[in-house]
Amino acid sequence: MAPHFPVWSQNATGMLQFTVWTALEAEGFGASLQHHAAYADEISSGILSEFGLPETWKCTALLPFGGRVGEPGQPGREKTFKPIGERVRVINDIGALQSTQQIIPPQPEPSTATSTAFLRTVKARRTYYGLSKASPISDAEIRAIVESAVTNVPSAFNSQTSRAVVVTGKSYQKLWEIVRAGYIKSLGDKAPAAIIQQNEAKIGGYAAGYGTVLFFEDQATIDTFAAQIPAVAAHFPVWSQNATGMLQFTVWTALEAEGLGASLQHHAAYTEEIASGILAEFDLPKTWKCTALLPFGVPLAPPGAPGREKTFMPIAERVRVIA
Ligand SMILES: Cc1cc2nc3c(=O)[nH]c(=O)nc-3n(C[C@H](O)[C@H](O)[C@H](O)COP(=O)(O)O)c2cc1C
Repeated sequence: MAPHFPVWSQNATGMLQFTVWTALEAEGFGASLQHHAAYADEISSGILSEFGLPETWKCTALLPFGGRVGEPGQPGREKTFKPIGERVRVINDIGALQSTQQIIPPQPEPSTATSTAFLRTVKARRTYYGLSKASPISDAEIRAIVESAVTNVPSAFNSQTSRAVVVTGKSYQKLWEIVRAGYIKSLGDKAPAAIIQQNEAKIGGYAAGYGTVLFFEDQATIDTFAAQIPAVAAHFPVWSQNATGMLQFTVWTALEAEGLGASLQHHAAYTEEIASGILAEFDLPKTWKCTALLPFGVPLAPPGAPGREKTFMPIAERVRVIA
């Protein structure tokens, strides 16, 4: 698992950046996401020394915020949206692939929600492993959630690198069979029977759910933007991991708000066989790199791993306010 932690860290910081940004916006602030500390070591080390922060803290972003003056976005440059059918697919039977072509229009009205309501929803999201083949909402509503999240979650330079596939129905079993077979094979012939059994049971738990949202980042789009803006080309893969984290978190939280439980899995990053097996089975572009799987269903058990209570670090070790 060790090589995956830096990627998960970029996913998690994306989730956090997005949550704080959205909560501040709900209170009437405007903000933008900046990455100067990643551009020059002088900036990152200057910030750490100025504010007496631990040398092990790597600055992933800066979010300047304040009262809004003017409209969002760059003057004279309207935010554009790729057709949603190019970004979201819904698969609910073997071989049957549907995609909508209509563009979801942007929502020009500022949200009237306050940060309290938003953060209550954020707090309510948990990891659920015990899942059933039931959903309190229709497949059309699940699709609407994913399409809305894909449309409205931000991306660096509005590159819209994220893609999502919703799998329900018979195809769902096929998906988790690809994951099961590929993952068990990756454990090797010498893996103890107990480990194999343990992993079969875990994957069986995901397969017991109602549906899975697969998250992808389109590497072709990343390459195009990197070529267009060479000065920051090296940062696009990291921003892509931030953006997919934001999207994963938004879909996960929205499904939970509807009474579904979910957990975040990364089997497609563990072995190439699973990643390519998923692309082939669902006829997806080869440039789509799967960043996570989110199996969901009405929960059958409390959140978290049984017998392992979720603990929280003292908040003062994680947040500092410098006024
Ligand atoms: C970036 C990221 C990666 C994660 N990867 C996995 C994973 O591979 N498998 C898993 O079961 N849970 C995964 N999780 C879930 C975490 O273990 C879980 O969110 C954490 O323990 C806090 O529990 P909670 O989700 O109930 O609040 C991941 C979470 C994040 C934010």
